[in-house]
Amino acid sequence: MSQRVINIGICGLGTVGQGVWKHLSANRTPLGSRLGVKLVLHSASVRDLRKRRAVRVPAARLTTDPLTIARDPNVHIVCELIGGTGIARTVTLEALRRGKTVISANKALLSSHGPEIFAAARRHGGHFFFEASVAGGIPIIKALREGLVANRFGLIHGILNGTCNYILTRMEREGAGYAEILADAKRLGYAEADESLDVEGWDTAHKAAILAYLAHGTWVPVKKMLVEGITRISQADIAFARENGYAIKLLAVITREFPQGGLCVRVHPTLVPRTHVIGNVNEVYNAISVTGDIVGETAYIGRGAGQDATASAVISDIADAVTLLCRGNLAMPETKLQPCRLSAPEEIRGRYYIRMEVKDEPGVLARIAGVTARSGVSIANVQQRPGRRPGAASLILTTHDSNEQAIRATVARIRGLGTVLGQPVLLRIADFAA
Ligand code: NAP
Ligand code: HSE
Repeated sequence: MSQRVINIGICGLGTVGQGVWKHLSANRTPLGSRLGVKLVLHSASVRDLRKRRAVRVPAARLTTDPLTIARDPNVHIVCELIGGTGIARTVTLEALRRGKTVISANKALLSSHGPEIFAAARRHGGHFFFEASVAGGIPIIKALREGLVANRFGLIHGILNGTCNYILTRMEREGAGYAEILADAKRLGYAEADESLDVEGWDTAHKAAILAYLAHGTWVPVKKMLVEGITRISQADIAFARENGYAIKLLAVITREFPQGGLCVRVHPTLVPRTHVIGNVNEVYNAISVTGDIVGETAYIGRGAGQDATASAVISDIADAVTLLCRGNLAMPETKLQPCRLSAPEEIRGRYYIRMEVKDEPGVLARIAGVTARSGVSIANVQQRPGRRPGAASLILTTHDSNEQAIRATVARIRGLGTVLGQPVLLRIADFAA
């Protein structure tokens, strides 16, 4: 009996697309045998046909128009590996409208157009898979949808951006500035085409929105999240963290109090205790802690960015898509949960770290303490170090349990003191990860 042929179209042959092409070319026969089909790399699209690529794709299979792949009746599975929310959205919707299966690594698109994409798949009998959109090679989508389906999730937190973790790790180990290391992250294929998405925290927010949707059935717009990146982290912050038993990590934190509490999604650099597993996850690795009401805390670690890790996730979706196409019975339901109330970032509670450059003169500390006292913020610890310029000192405060609104008001008032030089740096301390 002849094997069923499954034709795969790859839209976008950049870092991820070339990884998928490379690994599928090498493994499609054994993978096809396991799935009981013949897998064919049917076609691929690029923007620039003249660009040199690490994979050899026959010219006849290459196009500059990804829509021809989305519309080709011979293509069963369309991998959208272009990125962004422009042509990538058009290609995705076009393929889904034709009842095709779309596989995507595009967290920016999914977090901003998730309902539209799922509705298109539902309406036209297509399917949408997105394992590679969160945490690179870690199968976190499958974990939430399948392995942990019995649970309600009070807390999900972790490192979701490989580029930022790579930068923070090397800043700590080598003392180099993040701009220099960012160039390496780009060369290694970790960073987004627009790297500000990584370092300003937006990529992490896109991924957090996807996890929050899977866990709680509610799409949280990134505009409603507290989102801070790593661009203001300096060696002074890293030194404080090291000396006090912490590592600085860009964390996504998704909390919900059951039964009535609101859902809160936030992204910010955080002082994570070294005693917690996440505090020791370095380089391009991501780590996610998922706490379920039945299972307790579980943790997932793996490469969060880069060609091979991401290709692994895309190919796992291809395997699931083949199973679905051939047997029609993969457990892949759309998340249908009761939508929940969003709690405002101002409701966040926790301990905080504030570093500021001040004039090194009498009465400065008293004025700052006056501000914190008026704002109802209780100081846990004060450290003074040499400042960056003559006549200045670097002052680091940590607080007892406080409230986001009070802290923001405190920082704004401190900034207004004539003795404080420049904008203070505010970090959260991860007691939830203790
Ligand atoms: P990339 O290296 O920039 O590759 C993008 C590909 O799309 C290139 O082949 C490019 O063509 C093509 N392309 C871009 N704009 C186009 C347009 N307007 N029309 C037609 N083709 C266009 O990006 P990537 O790193 O592979 O990322 C792809 C997707 O995967 C993104 O959604 C990203 O967020 C996601 N992702 C990336 C990683 C990672 O580690 N890199 C990990 C997980 C998820 P040319 O090559 O001719 O320029
Ligand atoms: N730029 C992303 C990161 C790619 O560094 O995590 C993986 O989604």
